[in-house]
Amino acid sequence: MAHKNPNTKNPHLLAWVSAMADLCRPDQVLWCDGSEAEYDELCGQMVASGMLTKLNPVKRPNSYLALSDANDVARVEDRTFICSEDKSAAGATNNWMDPDLMRETLNPLFRGCMAGRTMYVIPFSMGPLGSPISQIGVEISDSPYVVVNMRIMTRMGEGALRVLGDSPDFVRCVHTVGMPLAPEQKDVRWPCNKETKYIVHYPETREIWSYGSGYGGNALLGKKCFALRIASTMGRDEGWLAEHMLILGVETPKGEKHYVTAAFPSACGKTNFAMLIPPKAMSGWKISTIGDDIAWIKPGPDGRLRAINPEAGFFGVAPGTSFKTNPNAMQSARANTIFTNVALTEDGDVWWEEMTETPPARLTDWTGQEWTPDCGRKAAHPNARFTAPASQCPCIDKDWENPAGVPISAMIFGGRRPDTIPLAYQAKTWEHGVFIAATTGSETTAAATGQVGVVRRDPMAMLPFCGYNMDSYFNHWVKVGEKAGAKAPLIFGVNWFRKDAEGKYAWPGFGENARILEWIVGRIEGTASGVETPVGTMPEYKDLSWLGLESMTPEKFQQLTSLDPMKWAAEVSSSAEFFAKFDGPIPTSFAGIQQEILKGFSTDETKKETRSEVRI
Ligand code: OXD
Ligand code: MN
Repeated sequence: MAHKNPNTKNPHLLAWVSAMADLCRPDQVLWCDGSEAEYDELCGQMVASGMLTKLNPVKRPNSYLALSDANDVARVEDRTFICSEDKSAAGATNNWMDPDLMRETLNPLFRGCMAGRTMYVIPFSMGPLGSPISQIGVEISDSPYVVVNMRIMTRMGEGALRVLGDSPDFVRCVHTVGMPLAPEQKDVRWPCNKETKYIVHYPETREIWSYGSGYGGNALLGKKCFALRIASTMGRDEGWLAEHMLILGVETPKGEKHYVTAAFPSACGKTNFAMLIPPKAMSGWKISTIGDDIAWIKPGPDGRLRAINPEAGFFGVAPGTSFKTNPNAMQSARANTIFTNVALTEDGDVWWEEMTETPPARLTDWTGQEWTPDCGRKAAHPNARFTAPASQCPCIDKDWENPAGVPISAMIFGGRRPDTIPLAYQAKTWEHGVFIAATTGSETTAAATGQVGVVRRDPMAMLPFCGYNMDSYFNHWVKVGEKAGAKAPLIFGVNWFRKDAEGKYAWPGFGENARILEWIVGRIEGTASGVETPVGTMPEYKDLSWLGLESMTPEKFQQLTSLDPMKWAAEVSSSAEFFAKFDGPIPTSFAGIQQEILKGFSTDETKKETRSEVRI
């Protein structure tokens, strides 16, 4: 139960909490123990205050709905800062402010910011308790919603305090909704600060200060702020990687198990891929999930890279998730789940777009208004979420909490590309793989940017999440691979989003992606063949199994894998333009790799081989 007396004598922690209480001036300070009783009590208090609605216990046991302020619905990248001592350490793609200046800016905002509220002290471990790959953080927050979400997303409470002991090594995370209450002021359902938001990282001192938002990655500071931005900086300093990657296990019909990570920019179906169910025809193949969003990857004692999922839950995007697209995610959120910004059904359950083919006749939408299918509004916010315990995932891997992590055999990178990038290809070397990862991107949609057909690069899907400059980050990747040598994972590029001449997706995706995993496993085991092309080694039609997907004719496969020399020339020059934006040196090998691609397409030999004809 959240209590007044800290169950720790850690002098560093006690001094810091006391300094934060002096600054933020809450009505009381409570230490969270992470127990179920504490969770239930806080949820009960939030139901009483109107912040949460308890869902129908028969339909959705022990689950709640939160509706946020319309002003506070997503991460705020333009308000996110990396305040390193030197601007150059933050690099060209991060917002930077001088740390002293930022502290001067934030101090007056934080002074008295928790008036009228409780300050919760939330100790947590990112990663299994006590794993050598895990890290401890302590978040101070004035939001009970943050406490209950952190209990699902991290190993939170007494256990984390025990692991910390008297050590000063914990990431200090300070969060406030930025809405102090005057003595008689009534609280609102979702407090936040509509004018001012700051998500600030001080990488050198491993601190996070978040002001003004109660939502997602802005407020659950273990996730993007710690597990990616601060942890990527730790990884740079200590020789490991903190990545925006899912981790999955693939078991072959022979019982061989391989672990694979995959990075895709947001909105490419990462959670679906992490939990995919192979098609019936692939009998004997099993996919299991370790994580759906973040991987911490460290060289193990044997020199192989081993990964853990630092999180303990899924903070998944609800709209689009259904028993058809991702039954495992639906099962994960069947109970003990917090839903945010989805719609409420008349019988006290939740609904969101595409959850069922036929929408309910009547709902209360995420803004609290009555909703009918013809009202012209979305029932759920497009970034509505479910916070669900990973342990409830039916395909969770038996080793998902193994403190030693799992050995990674392959890494996959992909974006949304309607053309140019083939369905699947393997990097020729680790450095070529780093190049593929660094040039990952998605073609923009008119809705996002007003421009169609522009590739927005998102290297390693880390552009919004790297706590330091991307040029050093690429070089760090090269070094990690050099150190791993022959034990480094193989690297693959994929593109599930290629379109045919009619503009329709040419690849069915979802469970069928397992066919590409089968080829990748074959490459790991040395049993699958492929053809050398200027961009990497690609599967031919005969290299994949098509049982149960007979509609995938050689001609259709050709549309998914053809390499157009003109488009590749444009791709190379667009990636060169992208790299030119960085201030520091990018890996020297990148220019050579670009030349190799161009040269590969320009030789007579390759022209014949540019897969303009189907080879079976
Ligand atoms: C996420 C994201 O919320 O990547 O996981 O945007
Ligand atoms: Mn993510």
